Parts: sequence; C-alpha cells; structure tokens
Amino acid sequence: MSSPLALPILDADLEARLLARMVDVEDAMLDHVESEAPFVTKAARHLMEAGGKRFRPLLCFLAAEAGPVGGDQVLTAACVVELTHLASLYHDDVMDEAALRRGAESANARWDNHVAILTGDFLFAKSSELTADLGPDAVRIQAQTFSRLVEGQILETLGPGPEDDALDHYLRVISGKTGSLIATSARYGAMFGGAPDEVVAAMTEYGEKVGVAFQLSDDILDIASDTEESGKTPGTDLREGVPTLPTLIALRSTDPADARLRQLLSAPLIDDDLHAEALALLRVHPAMTAARDYVSAEATQAKALLEVLPVGPVRTALEAFADLVADRSA
Ligand code: IPE
Ligand code: IPE
Ligand code: MG
Ligand code: MG
Repeated sequence: MSSPLALPILDADLEARLLARMVDVEDAMLDHVESEAPFVTKAARHLMEAGGKRFRPLLCFLAAEAGPVGGDQVLTAACVVELTHLASLYHDDVMDEAALRRGAESANARWDNHVAILTGDFLFAKSSELTADLGPDAVRIQAQTFSRLVEGQILETLGPGPEDDALDHYLRVISGKTGSLIATSARYGAMFGGAPDEVVAAMTEYGEKVGVAFQLSDDILDIASDTEESGKTPGTDLREGVPTLPTLIALRSTDPADARLRQLLSAPLIDDDLHAEALALLRVHPAMTAARDYVSAEATQAKALLEVLPVGPVRTALEAFADLVADRSA
C-alpha cells in the first residue's frame, strides 16, 4: 500500500505521527510568511501553495525519531529548512530563467525578477527569524548552510576553472547547493529530537549523501521527465548550459557515434530544434544508465551510515527514504 508520505512506512504509529507533523508544518509555514503588506504575503505564498514534495521537513521529522523528543523545536526546525529551500527556489528561477515551478508560473514569470529576488530575501529573513527561536547553535548552522548553498549556486554560475576537473566541480556544486540543506534537515531533526552526538553526526552525513543523490536524480529527471511529472520545463539545464552528471559522462565519451551530441553539448542550447535534438539523443544514451548507477551507489553509502541506529521502524523508514530519492530517477 502506498503511503500519502510517498514512503513505504510499515509502522502505523510512526506513519500517523509523521502525517500529523506534516500537517502542522503546512499550517505553521503559512503563518510564518504573513507580512503586513498583502502583496508580500501573496508573493511569498505563491510557490508555497503551488505544491512541492516537502522532502526536507519530512526528513527532519524522520531524523527526530532517532531521539526521544519530538516537540515544538523539531516543528520549528522543519519550518526553517522548508522556508530556506523555498527562498532558494525564488532565486534559482531567476538565475535559471525558469518559467515554471511546482506546475505554476515561477515568481519571475508571474511578476518579474525584482519581485522574485526580494520575495526570496523575505522568505530567507523569515526563516532566519524563526531559527533564532532554536538558539545560537542552530543560527550558526543555518548561516553556514546558507553560505554553502549560495557558494554552490555561485560556483555553478562560474563553471569550472582551467585547473578544475569538470566532474569534481559539478560534485562540489551539488553538495553545496543541495547537499548542505538536506544535511541540515537531518541534523536539526536529530539535534532537536535529542539524539546522542554520534547519531547527530551520522544523520548529518546521511543527509549530505541523500542530498547529493537527490540533486543527481533531479538532474537526470531534467532530461528524462516531462512537465506533467516534474512541474518544471524539461531540458532547462541544457538550455542554460548547466553541466550535469549525464552530460558530463556523455562529453567524456570518445565514441565517434557521439560526435554530434558532444558538439551540441558544447554550448547553451537556445535554439529549439538543436535543444530537442540534444534532449532526444541524451534520453537514449548509456550516460543516463551510468548516471543512475552513480545515484544508486550514493544511496547505498547513505544507508550504510544508518548502522548507528537500532534496527527498527525508524531505521527502515530512513533506508526507504534514501531508496526513494534514488528510485525517483530510475
Ligand atoms: C528542487 O527541490 C531543487 C533541488 C534542490 C533539486 P525539490 O525537488 O525538493 O523541490 P520541491 O520542493 O519538491 O518543489
Ligand atoms: C536547485 O537548483 C538548487 C537550489 C535551488 C539551491 P536547480 O536549478 O538544479 O533545480 P531545479 O531543477 O530548478 O529545481
Ligand atoms: Mg533551477
Ligand atoms: Mg539552478
């Protein structure tokens, strides 16, 4: 039976607890983004109400199950990570010139870049204000997380330097822009759930690996999925000339049959026909399988870190969470 959490949770009590917490987080977030200016509230709620998987709060609640406490601080932490994520989406769609997000118009398309950037800033400020309720350690972690996320986004924009290996650069980008916040989601959950230090450390590392696998899957889906599935425009990375694991693997090929694809991938693909040609060639390319194998290996490493937890429903659910992230792009 599939759970509304999209996770095969076998334990009915755990599932009921998580479901209730996911409802709480929705209500709390809607309150937290309220502004005195009605337009700001509207712009801030625009993407929140458009949907989203709420992966980060779910991971935070799941990680909190590794400890004895499940109170208000975990709920606050779950809001903090989702609001930080939401803020980053407003900014990311400006950078990527994306028109669609969560099946809705992006804020930059619905209004303009100024509104999108300032709404992202507003959301980040709200998330920071909320973090203050969690104490100075959480504020420091939040600041470090956001600087890693921004560094990842900037490194992506800059591209690899002359000395850099393109694949190493890409992996650095994705651990910054995505691994950082997913690691913090798991870390906050374990911390505010009262788990012992070694469990907090293992959950942080687990979150980082799951986060990298999550971005790798997302990049595969940018090529493989359609708008109905993703709520985004397929091939956005190709159009913007953003390298991803499948394109980097295809670019390494020395097979003469790949010459046309390599030529197409050497620059941003603005032209619609060339874009469609590259997308079609990539979708059937062995690089897609190689990229999927890489994601599975990352998820396997993440699951190995869970050995610190006792065998039981929480560990099983965290294993399923890592599998879900990898299987998304399978
Ligand atoms: C999108 O994140 C940006 C990435 C880090 C890949 P999600 O895939 O979690 O987006 P929503 O929240 O479900 O819309
Ligand atoms: C996601 O960037 C990372 C952040 C938002 C920080 P992407 O550009 O890869 O994600 P999508 O495909 O737009 O969701
Ligand atoms: Mg984007
Ligand atoms: Mg981007």
